[in-house]
Amino acid sequence: MLAELTYRCPLRCAYCSNPVELDAYADELTLSQWRRVLAEARELGVLQVHLSGGEPLVRRDLAGILAHAHGLGLYTSLITGGQGLTAARLSALTAAGLDHVQISVQSSDAPEADALAGRPVHRRKLAAAALVKDAGLPLTLNAVLHRANIGRAGALVELAVRLRADRLELANAQYYGWALLNRRALLPTREQLTDAESVVRAARERHAGRLEIVYVVSDLHDGVPKPCMHGWGGRQLTVAPNGDALPCSAAGRIPGLVVPNVRRAGLADIWFRSEAFNLFRGTEWMREPCRSCPRKEIDHGGCRCQAFQLTGDAAATDPACALSPHHALVRDIVRDAEAIPGAALPRG
Ligand code: SF4
Ligand code: FES
Repeated sequence: MLAELTYRCPLRCAYCSNPVELDAYADELTLSQWRRVLAEARELGVLQVHLSGGEPLVRRDLAGILAHAHGLGLYTSLITGGQGLTAARLSALTAAGLDHVQISVQSSDAPEADALAGRPVHRRKLAAAALVKDAGLPLTLNAVLHRANIGRAGALVELAVRLRADRLELANAQYYGWALLNRRALLPTREQLTDAESVVRAARERHAGRLEIVYVVSDLHDGVPKPCMHGWGGRQLTVAPNGDALPCSAAGRIPGLVVPNVRRAGLADIWFRSEAFNLFRGTEWMREPCRSCPRKEIDHGGCRCQAFQLTGDAAATDPACALSPHHALVRDIVRDAEAIPGAALPRG
């Protein structure tokens, strides 16, 4: 379960996938409401909870939420930008049962990282990563890749090694929220992607057994859709700061979707019986070409949110798929972005 504790965040990244309309999420679940949701999640069979945001560290009651999750037997990950992760805060979170920390960086180059975050944050991120390792916790370093920083994939691997990270996630930007608004400036070129993929292949061999490198591909370039969320309502769920419960973080923007909320319904009821979670479960909802495609159990027809964004129909085949009748839209998006020179990014 992804527990999005708040969308508040001190950073201003242009590739952020959080919703652009933040007012709807200002009324955040309280500590006692999160305690109930976590207990219901454990009861439902959830094993891992990602405490995420926005920046989860802005929640003063984070240690209380975490302690409750730990007490229920959940594996707890803190997904953070690292600002505010002081030695005292980390020690309180560790005492509460924190199992793993993921820290995001914007670049391997400090001035570029600060410019991309819109704030001078890089130095504190590195200090936070050192604290995590000194505390004996496993560390994932995460970097979202886009046109301005994808050329630094190799340097990001070296940074992860220097920081003693156990795992590095190099994730091509996914185009939801702010990232969708800024897509034209963010999309890398085909040539940049090819270079990054060969850097990652070589780095995996070089650091095998010491650093796990996860590379999240860009689904817009290859005609191959991503198996988004491992299938709608298949394996994971998201609870947004205001209690909205969704199969993925972006689904709340699909018009007409009746979004269930944990303030009004139990999690098991939402998972098994809500219209929202059942809408695109399995394969019965699919139309051609997915319906008769041998890959339908593998990629689940791609991403419902992307299908909606690009075609206005969430039940359409994801246009990222070369077999989609709307695939020309994706080719045009990539061609259009490749026509822009340079790598200047707007602020998020
Ligand atoms: Fe996947 Fe549908 Fe494309 Fe087949 S047609 S590859 S199931 S998105
Ligand atoms: Fe919502 Fe892919 S992001 S289904």
